[in-house]
Amino acid sequence: MTTAREIVVIGGTGMLRPAVHELLHTGARVVCVARRPERAAVGAPDTGELVTVPADWAAPRHLGEAISHAIAGRRVDEALLWVHTPYDEGVHEVLDPLLGEGATVVQLWGSSGVDPRRSRPHPTQYAPPRSYRSVVLGFADTGRGTRWLTNHEISAAALRGLRDNEPQQIAGRVEPWSDRP
Ligand SMILES: NC(=O)c1ccc[n+]([C@@H]2O[C@H](COP(=O)([O-])OP(=O)(O)OC[C@H]3O[C@@H](n4cnc5c(N)ncnc54)[C@H](OP(=O)(O)O)[C@@H]3O)[C@@H](O)[C@H]2O)c1
Repeated sequence: MTTAREIVVIGGTGMLRPAVHELLHTGARVVCVARRPERAAVGAPDTGELVTVPADWAAPRHLGEAISHAIAGRRVDEALLWVHTPYDEGVHEVLDPLLGEGATVVQLWGSSGVDPRRSRPHPTQYAPPRSYRSVVLGFADTGRGTRWLTNHEISAAALRGLRDNEPQQIAGRVEPWSDRP
């Protein structure tokens, strides 16, 4: 018997909700972590593989324990992270012991105010054979200027991050940052 693909998604009820739904459509088990994770179920396919974990990234120790409980001793092989800085540092720390040896971690970076490439330290927990990939959220062109990305575009970029081993990925464009909406 093959084990189901299992992915931990932190912050999966906002712009990453379409990604959570797509992963469920593919038959994956999705461990969705947020303060109100049940919001991920709205519009989701009823596969029975959505595991909701209520936790706050401002309380990382509890967040780690809650994920550990949800995965019941299995190792996390894939994680998709949307976590506001600086809370991401605590999240990396508590995820570290839960991750498999060759785990893939994709972290999204976005901000409407500051060029997101500037606020992106490289976490130390994901040395090879683990893979750490950052996906920087940029903006898209319209006929008359630029706009921010939609949730579907962001989710598509996040899923590409799980597939594509390029360590630094950009959704939309970021150059020049002064073109942002
Ligand atoms: N570049 C672009 O095109 C683009 C487009 C859209 C957004 N953005 C950027 O992305 C950001 C959007 O931020 P947002 O927070 O509004 O995103 P969001 O898509 O609403 O996501 C917030 C997610 O994080 C979870 N969350 C929030 N606080 C949490 C906490 N303390 N602990 C655990 N989970 C938490 C939320 O669930 P709960 O509330 O239930 O915890 C939700 O799942 C902005 O900085 C914006 O500039 C960029």
